[in-house]
Amino acid sequence: MKIMVVGGGGREHALIAGIKQNPDVTEIFALPGNGGIAADATCVPIGATDIDAVVDFAVKEGIDFAVVAPDDPLVLGCVDALEAQGIPCFGPEAKAAIIEGSKIFSKNLMKKYNIPTAGYDVFTDLDEALAFVKTAPLPTVIKADGLALGKGVVIAETHEDAEAAVRSMMADRKFGDSGSRIVVEEFLTGPEVSVLSFTDGHVVVPMISSMDHKRALDGDKGLNTGGMGTIAPNPYYTDAIAAECMETIFKPTIEAMKAEGRTFKGCLYFGLMITEKGPKVIEYNCRFGDPEAQVVLPLLKTDLLTILRAVRNETLSDVNVEWYDDNACCVIMASEGYPASYEKGYEMTLPEDRTGIYVAGAKLENGKLLTNGGRVLGVTRRGATLQEAIGNAYKAVETIHFGNAYYRHDIGAKALKA
Ligand code: AMP
Ligand code: GLY
Repeated sequence: MKIMVVGGGGREHALIAGIKQNPDVTEIFALPGNGGIAADATCVPIGATDIDAVVDFAVKEGIDFAVVAPDDPLVLGCVDALEAQGIPCFGPEAKAAIIEGSKIFSKNLMKKYNIPTAGYDVFTDLDEALAFVKTAPLPTVIKADGLALGKGVVIAETHEDAEAAVRSMMADRKFGDSGSRIVVEEFLTGPEVSVLSFTDGHVVVPMISSMDHKRALDGDKGLNTGGMGTIAPNPYYTDAIAAECMETIFKPTIEAMKAEGRTFKGCLYFGLMITEKGPKVIEYNCRFGDPEAQVVLPLLKTDLLTILRAVRNETLSDVNVEWYDDNACCVIMASEGYPASYEKGYEMTLPEDRTGIYVAGAKLENGKLLTNGGRVLGVTRRGATLQEAIGNAYKAVETIHFGNAYYRHDIGAKALKA
């Protein structure tokens, strides 16, 4: 089977590492992939959002199965376009990907179907939004409606900060059209849990829970990033909470999307907060999280491609999805300065055995692997206990070298205290 994976980060590398285990796979193409992924797949210089070129390539190459991993091509209808040409795909159609593409859509969906989430108001008018946040309870949460590279959420501690956030989104159009409409949300507190799930629109199979570390610096300080590390399973996500989430959040969401004529097939990501009043949805993503995928997929015992194809074919209930009992920890090695400004182009040395090393920002030049992004790679290791997994991951980090390397030293520390 010829497989195509659309995307080029650590998440895509982890997906490729999983897909590769299937003995029927003869070739994997990554569009565009990156210099590190090139060790495991044929990288093709086509951008993930260049939908026409992605479809042309898939048709010409006779791709048997495609996985569209990032949010933007999903929201833009990449799966719709590939399926229209007869290429079977893992991932939601555009009309279902809107669950991540529009926060207003997802908030209204949750309200309509009684799915627990933070209280909210929607604004399309700048002056009304400004008037509202002037007196809103603090802290107040301001979110751009559309995709904003994970940067469209501001938690304002003062009314001045809230007004500034509203202005930058709605007046200065910091995120373009994505911020022309905004959601102002109630501030929730409690531990956060990421639960990725496989769903074929009929059944939903949650994966092992995980915990992201979004801030750049140790002790959850510094700027918000795409994620500086993950651990799995998340100790805050007890069996009782998992059972409650299944009944109050996961199943109702799948049913709601079906009832709206937007059946979701693919990986639905539930960003949850375990509040004193029970688990609530902070956000939905229409795809695997990154770096969540890098810590969850290595714990999957069942063949990944078999599951992805069952999701596409709506036969997920026939597959017994099994997990290893282990814990896992993924430490992101970044370029110093990320997510603000950073230098790149430094030569990287990786160990001979690259198992569990998922490369995000690297390019090959004259046979040398050079850093080429903010998040450079993720290093995942397993262990019988969380402590052991963390120790193994940091030991592996020490075998990897590149100029300007930066990583957090406390991935998993909060989970150990749970
Ligand atoms: P997002 O980009 O939607 O993942 O949001 C980024 C982060 O903002 C989340 O991981 C939470 O830590 C935080 N956040 C989002 N919404 C809320 C909320 N209603 N209350 C408290 N924190 C929130
Ligand atoms: N790590 C958070 C996300 O993928 O959205």
